[in-house]
Amino acid sequence: MKTIVLATNNQHKAQEISTALEFPGWEFKTLRELGIHSDPAETADTFEGNARIKAQAARAASGGMAALADDSGLEVDALGGAPGVLSARYASTDGQDADDAANNAKLLRELADVPDDQRTARFVCTLVFIDEDGTESVARGTIEGRIGHEEHGSEGFGYDPLFWPDVFDGTCTLAQVPQERKNEVSHRGNALRALREQLEKKAR
Ligand code: IMP
Repeated sequence: MKTIVLATNNQHKAQEISTALEFPGWEFKTLRELGIHSDPAETADTFEGNARIKAQAARAASGGMAALADDSGLEVDALGGAPGVLSARYASTDGQDADDAANNAKLLRELADVPDDQRTARFVCTLVFIDEDGTESVARGTIEGRIGHEEHGSEGFGYDPLFWPDVFDGTCTLAQVPQERKNEVSHRGNALRALREQLEKKAR
């Protein structure tokens, strides 16, 4: 059995990743499940850079196991791509992650004067997989949409209640659909499908 260390302690992400990348003979374990501590500073200015920092740190902390990390966030066109890599810390005053309500409230304040046709945005997810032999596979996924004027829905997390995906044609936010439906269209789902394709090609 090949064990891949997931550079996350988020059980929900771990579940989504191990389901999307189900290969015979592979098992995914979170850092916590392996009793490993790894929490590097996410100092890069791209999602890919931060995912690589987390994957490399997890690989080193595990003594050279294959490692997979993701980094994700929201890019709003009217804000020049912000909050971007700072999505989790957007409303923070101390550099630590802020809570979802504070981040969403700040986003609405920043967009208060921005008209509907300029509220375009996307979620981005980048995955970095480093195999046991050190070879790297990188996959990126996005979902395009618009930022609304108030929160709708209670599924999901983060900016989901403000995000109206184009693929739903203005009928609901990402927080108004069940997790399985979100996975079919989301940035993380799309990145996982792209990575799966790469890994399958590599295995051939
Ligand atoms: P991380 O990749 O888990 O560090 O996520 C970074 C931040 O981006 C999260 O804290 C959220 O604020 C935001 N984010 C990432 N993915 C999503 C999503 O699927 N829905 C809503 N917000 C997200």
